[in-house]
Amino acid sequence: MPENQLTISRVAGRIGAEISGIDLAEPLEEHTVAAIRAALLEHKVVFFRAQRLDHGSQIAFARQFGELTHAHPHEDAPPEQFPQILTIDPDRYAQKYGEDFRQEYRKRQYSYFSGWHTDVTAAVNPPAGSILRAEAVPEFGGDTQWTNLAAAYEGLSAPLQRLAESLRAVHRFRIPAEEESKRAERVNANLLIAEHPVVRVHPETGERVLFVNPGFTDHIVGLSAVESRRVLDLFYEHLTRPEYTVRFRWRAGDVAFWDNRATAHLAPTDLDHLDVRRTLHRVTLIGDRPVGVDGRESELLAGRPFLADSAVVVS
Ligand SMILES: [Fe+2]
Repeated sequence: MPENQLTISRVAGRIGAEISGIDLAEPLEEHTVAAIRAALLEHKVVFFRAQRLDHGSQIAFARQFGELTHAHPHEDAPPEQFPQILTIDPDRYAQKYGEDFRQEYRKRQYSYFSGWHTDVTAAVNPPAGSILRAEAVPEFGGDTQWTNLAAAYEGLSAPLQRLAESLRAVHRFRIPAEEESKRAERVNANLLIAEHPVVRVHPETGERVLFVNPGFTDHIVGLSAVESRRVLDLFYEHLTRPEYTVRFRWRAGDVAFWDNRATAHLAPTDLDHLDVRRTLHRVTLIGDRPVGVDGRESELLAGRPFLADSAVVVS
């Protein structure tokens, strides 16, 4: 496809751009890969409409941007021959973990921002990027939102920026103590815990990024439980403010590619009461260890880095 047909259009004030005039199923020219990479670094999440990717071509597209991780640290049954693919479909989870999964899942949605997360920050090296493609989506609902964590850092007052830069936080997969399920057993048998700086320095842009999220951040090191809760709530409320976000309305074939080092995203919560199908497939690029403003790297507290091989120990 001629180079001059590739267009990049911003879709919100602080995050997100749509890239058109490109067929992701074809191998890309080096300069096109460079253009997408630059757009990703600038806009944090880029969208490609009406693509025709399958598992194989999604993996091939992603590999032009780096090495891929296994599907997920706790995924033991990715699609045959495609161990990198994580299929996101509530029906599949219900099949795998029992019919009560949706119920259990809903109980965990304890606040308005609890669905916000950055992918797999329980790992010492959270993915650098995630690429999600929609196979089937409902006619309405099921939008995904992203927020720009570099803009969120910038938006903090100077004293709070300094406070955040001085802190480190423990991230982990959390299963409520009372939950007894196959999923809980699996997660607890494969603990994954990491300590990250609360502000990381982006390895490519040098931007400072407010790197906590309600999905995985457990507590701030060195604070009392009450202090940690209050400080995290303050950061969460700040980083989920609409001014830092973009909202994407999926159609089948669409692809979203985000910089997982500089964003958090919100999975939809408006479909639980509807009998609709929503199936998406994700791959993730292997990430490096975050580094704080003081130059200190993240530390592994349990488990192992999230790489190409499966981390699941089947018990
Ligand atoms: Fe996610």
